Amino acid sequence: MVKKFQMYDLLPVHRTMMTEKMGMKITFPGTTSAQSGLDLALCACFVFEGEVAEHPMLQAVDPVVGPVLRQLIADEKFVGKKKQSVLIHTSGKLNTQRLLLIGAGKRRDFKLADVCYLTGVAARKANHLKVTRLGLVLDVGQASEAKRIGELMAVGASLAGYQFDRYLPAERRCAPSLEELMVLTEPVGLCTSQAATHWLTTPAAQAALHAGAVRGLALAQGVALSRDLVNEGASEMPPANMAAIAQQIASRDNLEARILSPTDCEALGMGLLLAVGRGSTQPLRLIHLIYRPHNRAPKKRVAVIGKAVTFDSGGLALKTIDGMLDMKMDMGGGAAVLGVASVLRALDCDHEVHLICPATENMPGGSAYKLGDILRSMAGKTVEINNTDAEGRLILADAITYARTKVAPDELIDCATLTGASMVALGPHIAALMSNAPQHAARMLAAAEAVGEPMWQLPLPKHLLEEQMSSEFADFKNCGERQGGCITGGLFLQEFVGDLPWLHIDMAGPVKSSSEGGHQGKGATGFGVLALAEYLHPIDPPSLAS
Ligand code: BES
Ligand code: MN
Ligand code: ZN
Repeated sequence: MVKKFQMYDLLPVHRTMMTEKMGMKITFPGTTSAQSGLDLALCACFVFEGEVAEHPMLQAVDPVVGPVLRQLIADEKFVGKKKQSVLIHTSGKLNTQRLLLIGAGKRRDFKLADVCYLTGVAARKANHLKVTRLGLVLDVGQASEAKRIGELMAVGASLAGYQFDRYLPAERRCAPSLEELMVLTEPVGLCTSQAATHWLTTPAAQAALHAGAVRGLALAQGVALSRDLVNEGASEMPPANMAAIAQQIASRDNLEARILSPTDCEALGMGLLLAVGRGSTQPLRLIHLIYRPHNRAPKKRVAVIGKAVTFDSGGLALKTIDGMLDMKMDMGGGAAVLGVASVLRALDCDHEVHLICPATENMPGGSAYKLGDILRSMAGKTVEINNTDAEGRLILADAITYARTKVAPDELIDCATLTGASMVALGPHIAALMSNAPQHAARMLAAAEAVGEPMWQLPLPKHLLEEQMSSEFADFKNCGERQGGCITGGLFLQEFVGDLPWLHIDMAGPVKSSSEGGHQGKGATGFGVLALAEYLHPIDPPSLAS
């Protein structure tokens, strides 16, 4: 039976995130006397490496639980290393049935963004144990960081429950049980003599934590949407379906949506995007969403472009099986951009943001573009094709020109799973950042660091590498040599940005994860949503000095 085109409605996309439980409650029981009335199934706390002996909570709990506690910790060889954890049954001696100690690594290596992962570990365990209310003893950071901590906690707790389970039988689906995250300022089950000294106990800090958590829950929805788009098989997520989802986001959040067909792109002279799309039976789309702030003039106009190759077979330069296996994820840049599109209204972003995804398959069909073809870009520059697998830069080049000429933004960002070489350079977890604007790059690196999406800047030494892509017959070739492959991808794009401040994020590595833990499951990560959202609308407005 031929499957009819189905609107991919937002509900299944978000089902994994328990939309109706958006208000995963984040609560604060307050004083010790209130806490002493608690009855928790699970309570978690973070323990730094080498600080097990003197951990204040454990010390406080020692006399109540007795020597068995320390014995268990020793038996499990728990020393607080990252990825270590130990679950302790308290046999009714504390106000929690179980205590989960989570290794936080060395204190000096600790980054605030680790709160996301660590809270994710706690939430993952809670979901596993079918616990609905999780206590979390929070004793990291300080009052000035409360909002960020609240955000990271909420992101970690909700994303730990993410599962791409649309195709699993009911018995293998595991809807997250967690409904409430209770932030505890003191060890659970202690007598009132333990004075509340923690920074978290001030009402101002608790309000900031809460505000951060509200933002974090919204962001987590955007990340989950991005993960869903990337995890979905390419046959279910062709360009037209991505466009349909973009339109749903637009109508839900009152964004303007412009969906360009191949004919529209032809009228604009997008020779590069059209060439890449030619080998496929799935019609390409150029998705363009516009977010405008309500009732006020935008501060800036920003264009954010995401590569959305919904399947990258390599075209006529066909990939191997191993190389092609994950290529449904080649729309990860576009998925991040749509994830961001879906949170801008909730964030009440101050800028006018144009979200642009050139969406196409790269297939070797009978009409496919060929090696040796010389194509004319929308910008007028000509490109000799020496590798049909270097398709991402082609579609981005036309999208960049589209943004420059039709949007005229103050600045431009693109994110893309552009090169395998980015993983050779930086490994599977870190995205490569390239830019012609040092201050913008610094802000992006800071945003990425703050939310735990690591990026590292690479240079764009045109004079050293441009020769790799020089062509006798065209302005340049589309592909350089193996060495420097990540940078030549960036250099190619730079030819189209002119003097606009521009950021290029090559996220071929971090788009997916091969292991699960904390807020991260196997498969799509939703990388880019948090960093882009933080860049576009920082959690705390930049101080007047900066
Ligand atoms: N989509 C790939 C890049 C990629 C590779 C993403 C592995 C995620 C994992 C891109 O279109 C591509 O094919 N790049 C080539 C570049 C080359 C032809 C210049 C690559 O990385 O091999
Ligand atoms: Mn490719
Ligand atoms: Zn690709």
